[in-house]
Amino acid sequence: MKVVIPVAGLGTRMLPATKAIPKEMLPLVDKPLIQYIVDECHQAGFRELVFVTHASKNSIENHFDTSFELESMLEQRVKRQLLDEVRSICPADLTISCIRQGEAKGLGHAVLSAHSLIGDAPFAVVLPDVLIEQLNQKDEPVNLGAMLQHFEVSGHSQVMVEEVAKEDVSKYGVIDFADHKDQRIAHIVEKPAVEDAPSNLAVVGRYVFSQDIWTHLANTQPDASGEIQLTDAIAAMIASDHQVKSYSIDGPSHDCGNKLSYVKTFIHYALQDKKLGADVAKYLKTLAV
Ligand code: G1P
Repeated sequence: MKVVIPVAGLGTRMLPATKAIPKEMLPLVDKPLIQYIVDECHQAGFRELVFVTHASKNSIENHFDTSFELESMLEQRVKRQLLDEVRSICPADLTISCIRQGEAKGLGHAVLSAHSLIGDAPFAVVLPDVLIEQLNQKDEPVNLGAMLQHFEVSGHSQVMVEEVAKEDVSKYGVIDFADHKDQRIAHIVEKPAVEDAPSNLAVVGRYVFSQDIWTHLANTQPDASGEIQLTDAIAAMIASDHQVKSYSIDGPSHDCGNKLSYVKTFIHYALQDKKLGADVAKYLKTLAV
């Protein structure tokens, strides 16, 4: 199964950092955000990724391409460890394809732009603003990999959700259940007002779809802001009696989509870093008030 990763967004929430570099190339310690996303997909078992991209985002493609100049320089200088790190950025068994979105017409339109590369087949969608771990504290596979397994067993589309504070629901797609026991989604709405939200279960940006979604995406009309919403296509799929199941995130999500959450996520990953973590912790203690 292939994964669609929409990377065409212009990253206005992270300006001015993202004026000349894609938001997906901002680093967390020593790796760009998009590398964590690609690692997550690979760990979950996906081997074919499709980036839906934009003219200003060539550095994302370059990051996963071979750099002969850099590799031969590291080889000549016998920098073995760095060479291995650079070569492992794109695992040998992973294929990345790219397609341009062309027009900024929303997430649904971005996903639809990948139809020709996916074909009439099931696929996953992974949004690159949020990082999600693939193993729980007992080292068991969870989240994206588990959603894929649930889809393979049941054939039902899967949408990952996470509880958020009630006042934050208007930033997300929000669901409620037909039946709590089997996690079947009854309703899904994009960025509802706090008083209209059906629950505080927010869509986190991980989806596995049966091929039925393509027809609904193609028929989805732009909303008031001119965007074609993926959420509206999912709502249409539910209305036409396709079962869509929610998957409750196991463990925390790490949001990088705005400045404060990016800073928090950076600190979290710096503290987890094998080489730097202890020194970062020591430094943070000196700042504590
Ligand atoms: C998109 C989706 C929304 C989802 C969110 C998760 O919104 O449209 O349903 O909850 O991603 O990050 P965006 O953040 O692109 O505005």
